[in-house]
Amino acid sequence: MSQRINRAIVPAAGLGTRMLPATKSQPKEMLPVARKPVVQYVVEELQGAGLDQILVITGRRKRAIEDHFDPDPFLLSSLEQAGNELLLAELSSLQSRARFFYTSQSSPRGLGDAISLGTEFADGQDCVVALGDSLIAGSQPSDPLSAMMRAHVDLKAAAIVAVEEVPAEDTFRYGIVSPASGDLPTGEPIRMKDIIEKPPRGTAPSNLAVAARYVFSPAIFEALPRVFPDRKNEIQLTDGIRLLIQQGLPVYAWLLPPENRRYDVGNFESYFRTFIDFALADERYGYMVRQYIKAKAYEL
Ligand code: G1P
Repeated sequence: MSQRINRAIVPAAGLGTRMLPATKSQPKEMLPVARKPVVQYVVEELQGAGLDQILVITGRRKRAIEDHFDPDPFLLSSLEQAGNELLLAELSSLQSRARFFYTSQSSPRGLGDAISLGTEFADGQDCVVALGDSLIAGSQPSDPLSAMMRAHVDLKAAAIVAVEEVPAEDTFRYGIVSPASGDLPTGEPIRMKDIIEKPPRGTAPSNLAVAARYVFSPAIFEALPRVFPDRKNEIQLTDGIRLLIQQGLPVYAWLLPPENRRYDVGNFESYFRTFIDFALADERYGYMVRQYIKAKAYEL
């Protein structure tokens, strides 16, 4: 009988160089998007999908992430004394449902290397990987992961990888998958024929880019130690997935639906877009932001 998937690994060890100086002394995963830091959205998405054991792979200058998820009894009691029910509720939901574990990747040896630090944590079980610098939009951001986890168990998959369509000229920035059949319907697992990390311009086999959410069987932890480092001396997760395919194991792509599109905060351009869209969608301040942007648009 298959066990319920309850473990998730959140890599958050990147140096954030593309977002300096904002990331000089804090990780990009702690940058605010509307009212919350990026990594809080990721954790809430995981909790919403029933994942309650969360391993965060940190790096240098990542203490702020641990602090953020640590209970702060003094803060809670001062809010209580002040009768600030709204903030109290928001803060306690942050700490309630998951257990956090941390480990650190001391040198930047790639995403595959970071995930392999979760081998003992996964302990021979299926687990989810959610990149800490990517957000899933929508009123139900956990829906894609929940569906991927169900499909993973039903199909006894070795891996299910969320993908999104990107413009042909951008494929060199992503892991790109090659599905076994031409058409990739939204929200359904389709067998993957191949996967390649950041193909040189003009060589991508499709415009389906790996979109920061994965479900893995323990086979990935056997594959990663066998991956050769790339030209930058990094171990790529994509290359580990490629080994699974080459072993003949069932690996699937899963196209994110438009209402659950992925936002990435790896560079300023996409961070600004993310901030604006999430601020507009904010239930408390969205209306005010919309009014402001409408008025501002006349001046531009
Ligand atoms: C990583 C992965 C890549 C994926 C991307 C977005 O790249 O290596 O396969 O497409 O995240 O999820 P990075 O953005 O860290 O360079």
